[in-house]
Amino acid sequence: MKIDILTLFPEMFKGVFEESIIKRAIDEKKVEINLINFRDYSMDSHHKVDDTPYGGGAGMVLTCQPIFDCVNDIKTDDSKVIMLTPDGKVYNQSIAYDLSKEKHIILLCGHYEGFDERIRSIVDLEISIGDYVLTGGELASMVVADSVIRLVDGVIAKDSHLNDSFNDNLLDYETYTKPSEYRGMKVPDVLLSGDHKKIDEFRQNSRYNRTKERRPDLLK
Ligand code: 6GU
Repeated sequence: MKIDILTLFPEMFKGVFEESIIKRAIDEKKVEINLINFRDYSMDSHHKVDDTPYGGGAGMVLTCQPIFDCVNDIKTDDSKVIMLTPDGKVYNQSIAYDLSKEKHIILLCGHYEGFDERIRSIVDLEISIGDYVLTGGELASMVVADSVIRLVDGVIAKDSHLNDSFNDNLLDYETYTKPSEYRGMKVPDVLLSGDHKKIDEFRQNSRYNRTKERRPDLLK
């Protein structure tokens, strides 16, 4: 999978993709990430990418030209263009799964007061990562890239995301490791029993009970 991230602040991404599972996925060529500064596409003599809003009001608005030209330059028939915006569809694991099957995703990060509305005409999907406002789409695009990359075939073992929280609208079960008792707190006996049928039962119950207690909205 190829992920192109269009941003005015490529430096913000330093480090994020250089550790752990994402780094390995890149090293093993399961995913390629390119950071593209769309300011480089500005035809303005001062490389401007924003201007004041028609009709007045606070803040600056991203102009069409640099973003249209940048997307046009990198887009193919296999590309999915995604805008990160608080006005978008609220992101979840099911969207992450769908995106993990794509060949090429283009993540468009805004800043300032937002995008000229006409930029939406070249976008396939608008995503918000939750009901709060960030200073720009960069952190949101990191969240989307991370959650998608771990689902790309071969990046992590399938059974490590089979039981992920949210896959079937249930949170994860409780887990423990050694020692079997710590400061008086004991690991449930069934997990030490070696009885895999009972253990599966315990875990299914754990998932259901935790979801009911913490996220009853998921059970509806
Ligand atoms: Cl995708 N962008 C911005 N600027 N704020 C957000 C967001 C995105 N998702 C939630 N808040």
